[in-house]
Amino acid sequence: MDAILVKGNGPLRGRIPIAGAKNACLGLMPATLLSEEPLTLTNVPRLSDIATMSHLLESLGTEVQALNEGRVIVTSSHEIANDRADYDIVRKMRASFHVLGPLLARHGHAVVSLPGGCAIGARPVNFHLEGLQALGAEMELKDGYVHASAPKGLKGARHRLPFASVGATENILMAATLARGTTILENAAREPEIVDLVKCLRAMGAQIEGEGSETLTIEGVDRLHGTTHRVVADRIEMGTYMLAPVITHGEVELVGGSIELLGSFVEKLHEAGVDVTPTNEGIRVKRAAERIRAVDVRTEVFPGFPTDLQAQMMALMCTAEGSCALEETIFENRFMHAPELIRMGAKIDVHGNTATVTGVERLKGAPVMATDLRASVSLILAALAAEGETLVSRVYHLDRGYERVEEKLGACGALIERVAA
Ligand code: EPU
Repeated sequence: MDAILVKGNGPLRGRIPIAGAKNACLGLMPATLLSEEPLTLTNVPRLSDIATMSHLLESLGTEVQALNEGRVIVTSSHEIANDRADYDIVRKMRASFHVLGPLLARHGHAVVSLPGGCAIGARPVNFHLEGLQALGAEMELKDGYVHASAPKGLKGARHRLPFASVGATENILMAATLARGTTILENAAREPEIVDLVKCLRAMGAQIEGEGSETLTIEGVDRLHGTTHRVVADRIEMGTYMLAPVITHGEVELVGGSIELLGSFVEKLHEAGVDVTPTNEGIRVKRAAERIRAVDVRTEVFPGFPTDLQAQMMALMCTAEGSCALEETIFENRFMHAPELIRMGAKIDVHGNTATVTGVERLKGAPVMATDLRASVSLILAALAAEGETLVSRVYHLDRGYERVEEKLGACGALIERVAA
């Protein structure tokens, strides 16, 4: 099994290209099931989660062709050959559940495995199911599978999500594009990945208004056609790499990034004493002062501070001046990086959904274990700033969401390599 070896060696300097967003792409790929015509996605990140979604779509009868070393994916769902998404694939990745809405809308029937919990929390799918039921779908839960049907087609409705869930918004939105009549989805998610999905669906002929606001209005159409869509930049990859020069006292330009995608993350960085400047090609980031200030953080839905950057921010706060509280409000168990950071000399106290972090002068390298995607990269950030060597094991989590992390950081001077462990 691969591990990543990092030797803390001072300031990172250079340019880091930002890939297309994993989470946008995982929302966009199932949209191919809505049309008989091909959907081509460009700026696709080369990640194991994207390969998993390709396998799932292939199992449903979609032809998937990867071009340009996987940067472009052409999907063609001429017919739905199979409407059952098996546990074997769905258990690997929760985003697999996104095929339910499109399958139901186009095919009238779907059997999709329940995704189950995962390391960061229980993550149920009740909001997805309630939304699709509001559109007239009949649901039965049997042997760990959702059996969903809409033999007479889905019908538009007004529905309010109890929480602005990203996945539920995507599922219901896709289903509503082919429903009869108007759907008004209230308390919808406003994340940039939702806006990107709406742009793609609109290019396929869907009639949608309100993206980026709390209410999405969808006028159902009879059919959607093919299109080519460029996947939006990965704001979480961008936020992660923005912290690399900050934690190492360096300066890096993120190429292809844009501040608008980052919501209040940038405000928090300013508060902590970080300079973020737009450039012609992206953004440049460096420390504004010798020592980073501790700042309190509360994760929230967009445009609030993203839960997917909480672990990375914790790594930075471990070396900041003073103490701060990081409150996690989206997932109930997303502090598994804390004990690993403590192994590196960090001072962290976790009480329920809040972690109190007191900065130390210097972290120390240690053998640590990655527990989920964002936790793994937070350990790499901490390792870049630590004295000595850190071996991060179980990096398959990292490969789900970060493309060539060792090359991107290595190009800025980091001593980082992938080793067999
Ligand atoms: N929730 C429910 N019932 C539901 C759906 C969600 O209780 O039916 C709860 C979840 O358990 C969680 C909260 O609502 O506590 C938020 O979940 P949401 O549905 O918004 O998240 P998601 O769609 O499952 C996506 C991203 C996550 C990201 C979250 C929040 C994808 C593929 N995944 O997950 O990304 O953390 O939104 O922004 O888009 C990651 O990339 O590391 C990652 C975990």
